Amino acid sequence: MTVRSLLASAAAIGLVALAAPVLAQTAPTDPLTATGKWSLPERAQARTPPMGWNSWNAFRTEVDEAKVVGAAKVLVDSGLSRLGYTYVNIDDGWWLKRRQSDGRLEIRTAIFPSARIKGARIKGKDTSFRPYTDALHRMGLKAGIYTDIGRNACSQAYDLHSPNLPEGTTAEREVGLAGHVDQDIGLYFKEWGFDYIKVDACGINVYGPDAAIVREHGYRPMPPLIDQVSINRTDIGAVRALYAEVAQALKANNPDGDYILAICNWGSANVRAWGKDVGHLWRTSGDITPSWTRMLHNFDSASTRALYAKPGAWNDPDILFIGHGDFDQNHLTEAQSHFALWAMINAPLLISYDLRQAPKSLMDIWGNADIVRLNQDPGGHQGVIAYASDDVQIIVKTLSNGRKAVALFNRGLDRTEVTLTAAQLKFTDDAPIQLRNLWDKSSPAPFTGETKFTLAPRQTLIFEASGKHQIDDGVYLSEIPGDVNVAVDGVITPEPDPVIHRMRNAWGETRGSGERPSYAGWGGAQADATPYDQALRIGGQGFDSGIGVLSNSRLEIRNAGHGRFEAKVGVDDSTRNTKDKAVFYVYGDGKLLAQSPALGLGDRPSPLSADIKGVRLVEIVARSQTSTSDQPLVVTWGEAALRR
Ligand code: GLA
Repeated sequence: MTVRSLLASAAAIGLVALAAPVLAQTAPTDPLTATGKWSLPERAQARTPPMGWNSWNAFRTEVDEAKVVGAAKVLVDSGLSRLGYTYVNIDDGWWLKRRQSDGRLEIRTAIFPSARIKGARIKGKDTSFRPYTDALHRMGLKAGIYTDIGRNACSQAYDLHSPNLPEGTTAEREVGLAGHVDQDIGLYFKEWGFDYIKVDACGINVYGPDAAIVREHGYRPMPPLIDQVSINRTDIGAVRALYAEVAQALKANNPDGDYILAICNWGSANVRAWGKDVGHLWRTSGDITPSWTRMLHNFDSASTRALYAKPGAWNDPDILFIGHGDFDQNHLTEAQSHFALWAMINAPLLISYDLRQAPKSLMDIWGNADIVRLNQDPGGHQGVIAYASDDVQIIVKTLSNGRKAVALFNRGLDRTEVTLTAAQLKFTDDAPIQLRNLWDKSSPAPFTGETKFTLAPRQTLIFEASGKHQIDDGVYLSEIPGDVNVAVDGVITPEPDPVIHRMRNAWGETRGSGERPSYAGWGGAQADATPYDQALRIGGQGFDSGIGVLSNSRLEIRNAGHGRFEAKVGVDDSTRNTKDKAVFYVYGDGKLLAQSPALGLGDRPSPLSADIKGVRLVEIVARSQTSTSDQPLVVTWGEAALRR
């Protein structure tokens, strides 16, 4: 049931007009009801973004054991594994077929020779990745595998020239999870000992009854659940349910909880909103290519989603493409930018290059311990965009040592001057700020108030910064997105997000009508911006810090030791719904602690403060008091902070 339909039924039985605390207690299925519980599963794995290596961008389906084990050896010998690069992930291309007698998957032993089992149950037929995963584990590494949520994988539609496509009858070539979830997950994790699985989605996307690929290659048609260009033609609930089934099977087959689920449905089906509830990471966009503007696209698909990432749950803008095309060893500025940006937004750091012949210049990028450390900071706070334009961005990330990391990012082809201000770092402008350059390790002279840099085309400067915090007895919520869970975002109808760079893509060139926004998530909660990417503003007063969200939303906030919640709340000046009013509530461990009067557009920001001493979970709820418009009501938790 959507929030809107719940509220409509509440209105029908006369609840909406009642005093709010009563409302909050009367409807147990109301998603806005405070639960006192962090509603995400507590995950033992991926407490920081996964790191390692993946075969796809380096080898596509021409993957083989020598290449993968070669990469694994370099990870260990070079010291990269000690920095955290431990997952070695085989992508598409490893299958031979699904055996029809019992549905067991067979490995293509021509490319994975160690998978041949002597004395197999069915002679010469049983194959196993166990020798391979044992070898990785002995090296102190972890092993990742790849599958598809449907019957067939992406390579079976897109890599038709490949020598490594599954073989045999239609049924034998059905190597995806559909109809085999428990069997396959058991095989991968219990029998073969994998630790990580990437679950792609071509099987529920491109094998429809009308698809040429189905007719011409004898696949069994599967009506698509995903339409990548139309959220209205995508069955969001069905897609989510399929991935949830995999999550359940993984839990059942991993009593020690040692597994990672990487959802790979390319930002479709509104996964940017629910991925955190189901998997450890979820792709926020289509595939990255080794092109600067495609990198921008993938970066943008994740960079505005800070509030959706946290320990155990990460936005995934895709594998790194460092070493190839615009990011090769002749384009180190671009390669460094790609790496710094992924690090700042807590993206997984998965190298995808033939490491057996990696030049030192590239090894130095992946091996920049300072930059890896900020990606792996235990706080898990994704960087937040402090300054945005299409030319330059400034991204600031809170570190658990009390400092900030800041990236100054020149997206364009002109040299450009960038002014960094104390306010962007949420530092006071009357105390010196010290920066340390994480590329060349230099420390410019301390500055007060603001400082200037000149950036080369496509350059990203990245610093660790220390200074005096604007609030010295606490923290703004927008500084700690890793401690905030958007339990209900108030989005009424999923809409494509238009604030993503639309590159001319490599496959379509300029045929057709162009790249249109396609990933739902527009209207999701934002740190330091409204859900529609405006500056936060209530009754004419602007806020540099705060949470922007739609009404009929509930956010959960972990509290470790703070005594007060404070905010200035109201309807944001940017709202298109100009009629309705909202009431703002603060709960502590499920109990109502404070609430605002009903506030509408134009009302002054209303101070809201609550005693949260001893409270472990704070919930902040904005609830529309009336509902006279189909437009969502945009609300702002200005300067929302946890204080001593
Ligand atoms: C999809 C995924 C890629 C890769 C390929 C394999 O395109 O998004 O990351 O796994 O399939 O075929």
